[in-house]
Amino acid sequence: MERFKAELRAFVDGIYEGEKKVLVFGEGSADAKVVLVGEAPGEQETLLGRPFVGKAGKNLDEFLALAGLDRSALYVTNTVKFRPTKISPAGRIVNRPPTQEEIKLFLPWLQRELDMVRPECIVTLGNVPLKALMGRKAVIGDLHGQFVESEGRRLYPMYHPASLIYNPSLRETYRADVERFGAWMRDKLT
Ligand code: URA
Repeated sequence: MERFKAELRAFVDGIYEGEKKVLVFGEGSADAKVVLVGEAPGEQETLLGRPFVGKAGKNLDEFLALAGLDRSALYVTNTVKFRPTKISPAGRIVNRPPTQEEIKLFLPWLQRELDMVRPECIVTLGNVPLKALMGRKAVIGDLHGQFVESEGRRLYPMYHPASLIYNPSLRETYRADVERFGAWMRDKLT
């Protein structure tokens, strides 16, 4: 894993010469049976150098606890490893979704990371990791809360925890998806 991080750092430095992008690497046990894959780090994640520690991370932890899952048993990472930003009309630095180009750049690294951990299941959070791993036609609205196979990997697509902030009506669906996953984990992995 340390070599992976050093190689990814060198790769990003080569592509974004002179920019010194802050990278947020995956976190957790390399033997984890479950990997959670998000979109890209936000401001808090970039400041602390850890994935899912901001508001979306709080939502995630709340639901993991509800499903009886402990973050320490998981490996948590992102599709894109730096914070995509833009300048808002008010002149502030704000998040933006990662571009297709950024996703494409990081995909081979995500694949390599997943090959190192070799989990029993990959939980994708939101459309970005789902489409990165299954192709552009896969959509979260159709696939959330089901186990699907892709390239020899078992995926469990879920809505992104940040989507609950913008769309509270998803909470019940999200809760049901987490509970189904928790039951599967207790049944299969313990
Ligand atoms: N949202 C993500 O997709 N990843 C993070 O690490 C934080 C917020």
